[in-house]
Amino acid sequence: MDVNTYTKSRELFERALKVVPAGVYGHQGPAEACFIPADAYPYFSTHAKGSHVWDVDGNEFIDFMCAYGPISLGYCDDEVDGAAIEQIKKLNCATTPSGIMVDLAELMVETVDMADWSFFAKNGNDATNYAVMVAKAATGRDKIILINGNYHGVSPWTQLYGYPGISQADVSNNIYVDWNNFEQLEKVVSEHRGEIAGFISTPYYHPVFQDNVLPAEGYWQKVRKLCTDNGIVLIVDDVRCGFRLDMKGSDHYFGFKADLSCFCKAIANGWNISAICGVDSLKDAAASVMFTGSYWLAAVPMAAAIACVSKMQRINAPVVMQGIGKKLTDGLVKAGAQHGFDLRVSGVPSMWYMRIANDDSLILHQEWVAECVRRGIFFANHHNQFVNCAISDEDINKALEVADEAFRIVKAAHPEIGR
Ligand SMILES: Cc1ncc(COP(=O)(O)O)c(C=O)c1O
Repeated sequence: MDVNTYTKSRELFERALKVVPAGVYGHQGPAEACFIPADAYPYFSTHAKGSHVWDVDGNEFIDFMCAYGPISLGYCDDEVDGAAIEQIKKLNCATTPSGIMVDLAELMVETVDMADWSFFAKNGNDATNYAVMVAKAATGRDKIILINGNYHGVSPWTQLYGYPGISQADVSNNIYVDWNNFEQLEKVVSEHRGEIAGFISTPYYHPVFQDNVLPAEGYWQKVRKLCTDNGIVLIVDDVRCGFRLDMKGSDHYFGFKADLSCFCKAIANGWNISAICGVDSLKDAAASVMFTGSYWLAAVPMAAAIACVSKMQRINAPVVMQGIGKKLTDGLVKAGAQHGFDLRVSGVPSMWYMRIANDDSLILHQEWVAECVRRGIFFANHHNQFVNCAISDEDINKALEVADEAFRIVKAAHPEIGR
């Protein structure tokens, strides 16, 4: 099997380092340790279609990161991009919004079970910021409860004191509890009675570097009741899971109803738009909050979102993605076991997390992932992976063939495995 080389990627990165902080900043570059070892990965892409991406050196990948989630139907989906291109010819950014904003809001309200209204922005972080502000406006309270290790974006309140640029004041209204620990949450609520505006959490626990954890039986139902009894706004950060578990929302999937739900990644197959959905009782508070941006009401991503949500509805995209993920992860676990590797899969199949559990250092896992990436299967090391609807049986078979070869190579370097 051929192994990728990345000469042009590295040349571009050298140029980038001179003019861009960190070369490629954030989670899409090597600086944040998402791509380990960095030499196994490409740094720049040229084009993509369906489940495949090509880098600047001409290497082809089956991409199981899906741009960290936005690609839900497959890269450059004709229906979604076609709708965007039609809209480009009419109107994008204007002084007043296009009427399709109303069409999109109606579609979100029809699609998402908890939604009585919808509001649009650009990034997931806009949605989580707005949700927290709406909770504070609605309750007249300051404090927010968050889950240790959850990611909600990059605004200072979402980060930790001690991180570069984050002051104590930025996080002084945050109270942290552990995932799935209802007793701890209950205790915190009683200690701060009348002070807590909102509880924000992802629908299940999907941090980096750790097995992902689904909600315990009855957890969300107890949280829902606690929030209702104490006038706390229940915010579901569905930025990552949204439309990968259930078209009606991940709260619906887990059998409860959020007050505010934040959507972003899967909503427009890569076009830049996010959404917040809310219940009727929070509509006035939502309207009172000053929150907007130069491009938030741009029509092209809205046209893309309408086409994307409609197509996802039509094909029941979450079920399609769960099926693809299950077939692939079952095969990966089996291939690992044949070589003596204990590959643990957690989370849900449409955005599974995996790690080789033979060693706690995760070095074996990194070595195996690197051998897969060098042979054209794009996995991240310590972040959950993503599935999109364009991944075919042929792609899955190819991924399993490469994974098998990668297990064989790592085993040869560590003959003690499986003994
Ligand atoms: C659960 C969750 N919330 C919020 C965000 C922030 O979204 P964005 O990067 O679009 O601002 C992310 C991004 O990965 C996320 O996964």
